[in-house]
Amino acid sequence: MNTDDERFMRAALFDRFGPPDVLYEGRVPAPVTAADEILVRVGATTVNGGEVIVRSGGLPPWFMRAPFPRQTGLDFVGEVVDVGAAVTGYSPGDRVWGLLDEKPDARGQPLRSLAEYVAVRPDQVSPAPETLSVPEAATLPVGGLTALVALRRKARLRPGERVLVRGAAGGVGSAAVQVAKALGAGEVIGLASGPTTGFVGELGADRVLDYRSTVPREIGTVDVVIDTVGTDLGAYRRLLEPGGRMVAVRFDTARPVRALGGIAMSGVHGTSRIRFFRGRPERALLDELARMADAGDLRPVVGAAYELADVAQAHRRFESGGVRGKVVVTVG
Ligand SMILES: NC(=O)c1ccc[n+]([C@@H]2O[C@H](COP(=O)([O-])OP(=O)(O)OC[C@H]3O[C@@H](n4cnc5c(N)ncnc54)[C@H](OP(=O)(O)O)[C@@H]3O)[C@@H](O)[C@H]2O)c1
Repeated sequence: MNTDDERFMRAALFDRFGPPDVLYEGRVPAPVTAADEILVRVGATTVNGGEVIVRSGGLPPWFMRAPFPRQTGLDFVGEVVDVGAAVTGYSPGDRVWGLLDEKPDARGQPLRSLAEYVAVRPDQVSPAPETLSVPEAATLPVGGLTALVALRRKARLRPGERVLVRGAAGGVGSAAVQVAKALGAGEVIGLASGPTTGFVGELGADRVLDYRSTVPREIGTVDVVIDTVGTDLGAYRRLLEPGGRMVAVRFDTARPVRALGGIAMSGVHGTSRIRFFRGRPERALLDELARMADAGDLRPVVGAAYELADVAQAHRRFESGGVRGKVVVTVG
């Protein structure tokens, strides 16, 4: 960041909450690398459900404090271009991937990876998989990490168990189907929209049902439910076998107080508490995901790809539904 020109960078911005059209490519000050940070030149990022909810103003104000113009972007794959004085283990030129912990930066921006540069602490990144292209690698940090935490840490999936993945063609669901198989699930059942059911089968699901024409009780009982949709959680919890576990990564954001209250009360009423968590970057898990990807156990799926200038189109595509895997945005 030496010349005047380099002090600013291209970034996806929005000046008010609203539909995808509020997004545009603008310029903001480039981050300055703190002593405990590395600076990454971003090659690609993806559209995530949480960013779309924030952009649309879909959460109560106390969830969404940050000044306008606001940035967006949670995950990233890119190249290290600067290393803070206190950081060891990284050098300029290293290819890394990671996700933000959503703590605001100096400009008050919690989400900000859809930009030319992002400054991050090294525990939020790890070396990117060697066998994947930059856009391919971008599809995995959020979905892969969420799936690993949900299935192994929260659900404590045991080999041979039957798993239901709700939202199985999406960013988290497509990773959860594959991670469940890799962890030894006996049967993986995917719930997805009709046109994407074939895709979910190709990912390794043993049975795929169209959510638009399947009522929960037709699915049968399962040991683990991974829910990426958030609505009607009680109906899916009732499918659990005794000792079964349900993990939700989304709640009904149209009724946040009621939804979070319902999740909290699930520990009091009924036999199986619904576990909800918010994923955080963890270097060890990113390392593990890279190994899984390089070994072919976790396949990246680029459902659609756009450039930074077309960020509004990327969000529109995400919201129109029916995406297989992830919507990628490149920042070359
Ligand atoms: N807690 C965490 O740490 C965490 C981490 C990552 C993501 N999330 C949240 O998880 C949610 C999903 O994220 P994502 O990136 O996977 O989104 P996504 O890519 O849009 O996937 C959602 C999937 O759900 C499907 N779907 C919609 N309604 C459904 C229904 N009634 N039954 C079954 N499937 C249905 C969609 O299918 P069609 O589009 O084909 O209809 C889509 O494939 C988001 O709200 C995100 O914020 C939470």
